Amino acid sequence: MQIMEMTHKCLVPVTDFRAGHGWENGEDPQSRARWCCQQLEESRILYFEELPFEFSEDDRKFLISQRLGDSRLHKNISYRPKQDLLRGFASQDAATADRLHEVMRRYSQNVIRFLSQLLAPYSSDWAVDYASFRPEAEQSRNLPVRKRNDLLHVDAFPSRPTHGGRILRCFTNVNPTEGRVWNTTDAFPELARDHAEQAGLNQFATRSGPGVAGVFQSFGRALGLKIKTYSAYDRFMLHFHDYMKENSAFQQDCPKIKLEFPPGSTWICFTDSVPHAVLYGQHAVEQTLIIPMSALVTPEKSPLRILERQAGRALA
Ligand SMILES: [Fe+2]
Repeated sequence: MQIMEMTHKCLVPVTDFRAGHGWENGEDPQSRARWCCQQLEESRILYFEELPFEFSEDDRKFLISQRLGDSRLHKNISYRPKQDLLRGFASQDAATADRLHEVMRRYSQNVIRFLSQLLAPYSSDWAVDYASFRPEAEQSRNLPVRKRNDLLHVDAFPSRPTHGGRILRCFTNVNPTEGRVWNTTDAFPELARDHAEQAGLNQFATRSGPGVAGVFQSFGRALGLKIKTYSAYDRFMLHFHDYMKENSAFQQDCPKIKLEFPPGSTWICFTDSVPHAVLYGQHAVEQTLIIPMSALVTPEKSPLRILERQAGRALA
């Protein structure tokens, strides 16, 4: 299977980085890493045809051998590197659970090591988020609209506000024979220009006071609870995610670019600015990192700054 739109501006193949070696051809690692960050911040997808980090064939085979439907394996298995916790897998068989935990831990560590070389300008400031394994065939999932992965959207995490921090995700298709197919469309600058106002950006920007949720947050903090706070940016991005999925005219009429990621390929992007819909595929692994505004090489191109310019006021 081939990438159908290799030449499209949104996809940037990287051919001079090799697992276990790093940059080749005597390239200046610092300037290559900075260039990669710039590409990502321009809403492009870095694409690697070959695995750019260590991931053994044994580990890959073990992951895809886990069967759905035997109730041990949930639809999404997540690994939380900071706490070394595995979620979404319930097994009576302790040896299998331990092995899965070990495979996800090793995967996460290897990807983070790879990204700290590839995207060095981010590595001292990023927050390591979850890794996940997606064992289910995307085309057979039956989910409510807001949870559907086959509708174009940009990401925002309901449980993890970023205050302008960027959602960076590294995906690998571990399926041995089938590609993973995405649709994408115009990236965040055009999306915001064409849809943010209609989606209610100005109301989110001008809503004063903490609102009901804020009152509960203050109350919780007074009780000594650890309470998350959501900026206007977080609230708008969560709303924008739903707005895009629920807007059937947008879903139907927007220009679409189909991307097919072959078995064994890896791709990296900021999923808060690259719209994506997963149309087809089974067995992908993914690691998420949050990149704070202060680490970006071109912060003026971030969704936060784009929306702030559009709204005429600070959002975080
Ligand atoms: Fe998404």
